[in-house]
Amino acid sequence: MARTQDDAERVAAERRRDSPLYDESNRLKLGLFSMNTSGGMVISKAHSSHRIEWGYQLELARQADALGLDAFIPVARWRGVGGATDWSGRSFETMTFAAAVAASTERIMAFSTVHVPIFHPIVAAKMVTTIDHVAAGRAGLNVVMGWLEPEFEMFGMKQRDHETRYEVGAEWIEVVDRLWTEEEPFDHAGRFYSLVAAQAHPKPVQTRPVVLNAGSSPTGADWAARHADFNFASYTTADAAKEYVDAVKAKARESYDREIGVLTYALVICRDTEAEAREALKWILDEADWEAANNWISVLGIQSGSFDGNIRGRLAEQFVAGAGAALVVGDPEGVADQLVAIADSGLDGAMLGFTDWERELAYFGERVMPLLQQAGLRG
Ligand SMILES: Cc1cc2nc3c(=O)[nH]c(=O)nc-3n(C[C@H](O)[C@H](O)[C@H](O)COP(=O)(O)O)c2cc1C
Repeated sequence: MARTQDDAERVAAERRRDSPLYDESNRLKLGLFSMNTSGGMVISKAHSSHRIEWGYQLELARQADALGLDAFIPVARWRGVGGATDWSGRSFETMTFAAAVAASTERIMAFSTVHVPIFHPIVAAKMVTTIDHVAAGRAGLNVVMGWLEPEFEMFGMKQRDHETRYEVGAEWIEVVDRLWTEEEPFDHAGRFYSLVAAQAHPKPVQTRPVVLNAGSSPTGADWAARHADFNFASYTTADAAKEYVDAVKAKARESYDREIGVLTYALVICRDTEAEAREALKWILDEADWEAANNWISVLGIQSGSFDGNIRGRLAEQFVAGAGAALVVGDPEGVADQLVAIADSGLDGAMLGFTDWERELAYFGERVMPLLQQAGLRG
């Protein structure tokens, strides 16, 4: 049988009309991101009820689902970064997590994340298919080519160079797409994978579960434009976001004849007044786990000589409060306005994090969601 990614994408596009991430009545898609790791988006000792315990996570997933949020996206993390909090040192594995979320919710998309070098494509394809059946067509997959060096060291693996990682990823997704769509067994003799009579049954409910990729380098963004349904990008300013979103969407359209969406992620600090929200932010910063934040920044490789191994200042603060996410801080009107600005920059969705997740999500649902409806962002 011929290669069927194009056919699969056409069928998938039809089926996805019911999918929350394609629901046109919600101009700005909303979800939660990084709830499955200790600290979430906050590298601070500031008190939070957030727990890496299933009871807590289950309630959060059900709460997000009941509020009508569109996606529940855990982070794939294998170890912490040290410091007083060992930020992200406790985490739930995302495939098994997504299966449990899928079984416990009704509408929200249940995402998992794979590290391409760690998950064989046959294993990943079948796992996501299983989640898609549990979820009756609500599985999503974030594909990561490899990232944090200490994690790969822990596995005893040496990461390939950046460009080659994406070449592996291209072959990986090609195999996954064939397993998701082709009925007949196929042999695959590629540069990185060699498969004999590869087959996987049943097929996913969606034909092609929604594929996410967070690459943002030219090579990463190109991979997303070619293979992903959504790119997952950091947000700095509305102008920079608009430029990035336009470029990625144009790339997908012009080079690959595809449409893709772009999502971002944000830490929300919303209180009755702007002053209270600023006070809450100040508390997170006052209680910062600077050692963990500095470790995280140097693992990311963005530490430069000018920061001298012990950075403070705005960039560091954005990592303590947000771990690199956009910071959305204010009273309900202010938070809604900032989300409107995110939508106006062309982004299709914002995946949110909080400090005290359950309590703050409930407040967000009560006070901000109605404003987003009034603003025409949510149906
Ligand atoms: C929003 C977002 C989510 C990400 N999620 C994960 C993750 O769960 N696990 C992981 O190892 N890397 C994750 N990454 C890393 C990316 O997949 C990618 O490797 C990184 O952004 C570097 O991009 P580049 O390869 O284009 O240079 C994430 C990045 C972003 C911006």
